[in-house]
Order: sequence, then C-alpha cells, then structure tokens
Amino acid sequence: MVRTSASAAEPRPPTGAAGTLSLREVLPQSNMSQHRAMTRWMQPALYGAAAITAGIMLITCLRDAAPWVSVRELYGLTALALLLASMIVGPLLAVLTRIPLKGHLLASRRALGVCAFCFALAHVAFYIMPVLSRNWHEIFAPGAWWIVGLSLGAIALACMAPLAWTSRNAAVAAMGGLRWKRLHRLVYVLLPIALLHAVLVGSDFGAHRAPDTKSEPDMGALFFFLGLSAAWLLLVFLRWRRRAATKHG
Ligand code: HEM
Repeated sequence: MVRTSASAAEPRPPTGAAGTLSLREVLPQSNMSQHRAMTRWMQPALYGAAAITAGIMLITCLRDAAPWVSVRELYGLTALALLLASMIVGPLLAVLTRIPLKGHLLASRRALGVCAFCFALAHVAFYIMPVLSRNWHEIFAPGAWWIVGLSLGAIALACMAPLAWTSRNAAVAAMGGLRWKRLHRLVYVLLPIALLHAVLVGSDFGAHRAPDTKSEPDMGALFFFLGLSAAWLLLVFLRWRRRAATKHG
C-alpha cells in the first residue's frame, strides 16, 4: 500500500520488487525537477481532501437514525477502497507504461495508503466507542463467525500500522531498502484478510449483520471490491510476466 515516491534527496527502496517502482524509473531525467515542483503539493492536498471527505461523510451521516453505524460503514468501505487504490498504482504503472501523469500517480501512493489507515482507525473507533458505552459483551454476541470476522479486521489493522508508519522517508532510510521491501510485501496478505473481514461482518455484504444495523445488503459493494481485487491480481501477474520476460530475454 504505502510506497515512497523518490526524489533526488529522498531515500528510496530498491527497485524490481513488487510495487517498488520509483519516480526515476517512470520519468525521463529532464522532467524530474518540473515533476518534483508539481507533486510537492500533492501529498498535503490528498491528506486535506481525505480529511474534508471524512468530515462531509460524518456531517451527512448525522442525519441518519443511527449515525455511528452509517459512519463506521462508510469509513470501512472508504478504507478498503483507498487501500486497493494505493496497491493498484505500482503494478498499473509497470504494465501500462504509456499511461499519463505517471509521476503524479506514483507520488500519491504513499498518501493513499496512509489515508486508508486513518479511515480504518476511524472505522474501528466508530464501532468500539458506541459498543463500549452500551455493553462490551455486544462484541461477542453475534456468534463465532462474527468474532472471526472482527479478529480478521484486527489483524488487517495490525498489518496496516507498520506499513503506514514506515511510509516516511526517515523510516525507509533507517530500515534499509531490503528490509523495507520485505515488510511492504505484507500487502499481499493484508488485502485478502481485509476483504474477508468485510464479507464476514459488513452489512453491505450480506453474510452477517451487526446487531445495531438495519440496512439491507448491497451486492454492488461485493462486486465492486471483488472486481477491483481481480484487476489488481491481474496487473500483478502481468507485471511479474513482464519482468520474467525481460530477465530471460
Ligand atoms: C480492529 C479492527 C476492526 C474492527 C473492530 C472492525 C469492525 C467492523 C464492523 C463491526 C463492521 C460491520 C459494520 C456494519 O456493517 O455495520 C465492519 C465492516 C467493515 N470493515 Fe471493519 N473493522 C476493523 C478493521 C477494518 C479494516 C482494517 C478495514 C479496511 C482496510 C475494514 C473494512 C471494513 C469494511 C469494508 C466493512 C464493510 C462495511 C459495510 O458493509 O458497509 N475494517 N468492520
């Protein structure tokens, strides 16, 4: 999820691994300084846009009968969508080499991943706080599959935390490229775990429903996330084939 964009002064992970494409690889040297100037504002702009979006979602949901339920669902869905968006950029750029705004897309990866983590934290907070204020036994009440689903959510969150934390340039430099790269391979287990969590406990996905939810399943959410995940898998496969062909040819 959270890859670094590289500039001349920035430490960057080694290339050639899953999703570790750098700006230098996708932009001609002549465009680098122009690109750096243009993208300097991108990460703060994305963080700002995410904060405003989170605020608008919260205000909109306040009109609902159970605002905290709507907010936690919206934040959970947004976290998963941002996670997928951050993961898809690397393989997409490696496969579609002529895509426009490559440098911008690459520079936005880190911010997308960090925003996904922040939305996931808010999602959890809007579940835990109302439950604790009522009766914490509610966490276990819906049964074994519910508990499995929540545990998977907790594992996904635990995987996202180190990835978000090590998205800082200082962390990349301190860890060294190889260790950083190994750690960021966590995304390959993180996505299936987060998806399974959503399918098991999300009211939109229809398998189970939280006791405080009345909303009906929306199969659109399931197809959207399965479609995006399949696109990501396909791109990762195509990138792997491309790299294997370059190695042997
Ligand atoms: C300790 C960690 C977590 C807890 C306790 C938790 C809790 C929950 C709960 C209670 C629901 C059911 C919401 C409902 O439909 O009413 C849910 C759904 C969901 N969660 Fe989590 N979650 C956690 C982590 C995560 C993470 C890390 C992600 C994303 C990366 C995530 C994404 C989702 C999604 C997409 C849904 C489906 C929402 C819907 O159907 O509308 N969750 N989670």
